[in-house]
Amino acid sequence: MARRIRIIGIGAGNPDHMTVQAIDALNSCDVLFLPVKGEEKAFLADMRREICRRFIRGAEPRVLEFSVPKRRADGDYGAGVTDWHAAIAAIYERMLLDSVGEAETVGLLVWGDPMLYDSTIRIVEHVRAGGRVAVDYDVIPGITSLQALCAGHRIPLNRIGLPVEITTGRRLAEGWPEGARDVAVMLDGVQAFATVDDPGAEIHWGAYLGTPMEILVFGNLSEMAQTIAETRRAARERHGWIMDTYLIRRPVPDGEGNGDTVRHLPSPDRGEGAGRRMRGQSKQEVPSSGPSGHLFPGGEKGTASLPPDEADGKEGPA
Ligand SMILES: C[S@@+](CC[C@H](N)C(=O)[O-])C[C@H]1O[C@@H](n2cnc3c(N)ncnc32)[C@H](O)[C@@H]1O
Repeated sequence: MARRIRIIGIGAGNPDHMTVQAIDALNSCDVLFLPVKGEEKAFLADMRREICRRFIRGAEPRVLEFSVPKRRADGDYGAGVTDWHAAIAAIYERMLLDSVGEAETVGLLVWGDPMLYDSTIRIVEHVRAGGRVAVDYDVIPGITSLQALCAGHRIPLNRIGLPVEITTGRRLAEGWPEGARDVAVMLDGVQAFATVDDPGAEIHWGAYLGTPMEILVFGNLSEMAQTIAETRRAARERHGWIMDTYLIRRPVPDGEGNGDTVRHLPSPDRGEGAGRRMRGQSKQEVPSSGPSGHLFPGGEKGTASLPPDEADGKEGPA
């Protein structure tokens, strides 16, 4: 008999992101595997706890914590990742065999959505391929950080008729992707936005999306790059970690599709307008925006820390 695994997207920072499907899936689990990464990570751990507290209706599932092995940083990047996945798969396998009954269901709670820069699906496939424990699984989608970014900025992800490339900071730092006009960037530990040299480019940037610490910045990239770098540094210093993601749109040459950009009417609750800030952060804490940008820091609550990999936004599957 195959043990059942449910890979559940839990959203990108706000327990309210949990879908009804995710809540039902959570409630069908007998066991939860919860990763503990070194200093993990008060915020991630708290969010998972809060989700369980709010949404589990009946008997609490057993929680089995495991330490996430460190990924080798030396040598070939691809080989390092493959070895890392194999090591996590071996841990899952052992836990399944030793601590999960054949008729039981295991939940894996995945930040955001499991299909976006996350390797849980690959790791579970690795377990299956190993053939030592029979496993079947399903995937429950979650709200991604990209959705939270677009919702926060009140923009569609794509411009009309145009594609969007999703990439990492490390890749963007190697050069603008050929053929792309719109690029969404995740896992950026190197502030790759600063390498984009186009006076017409616009950036929609967001950090701690969905959380009470959320900060949104929008504007012309060349004018806002410095503000974002300073905002990022100050926020990271203050909270001890940062997760950010952003969308850069370059101008569309005539005849290459409709380069529409949503222009908002001023909205009193967002304090929109050049250089205005949203909801009371002092100037000392968050630098004011540049000449044509909007800076929207969210409310202020909570301290936390994340695994260095994610805190630094370094590229690497979760
Ligand atoms: C390992 S990826 C996981 C992405 C996740 N599966 C998702 O659906 O958003 C981690 C990266 O996602 C982005 N990210 C995740 N949550 C975020 C948040 N709340 N605010 C800003 N960026 C976030 C950051 O770029 C971070 O480096």
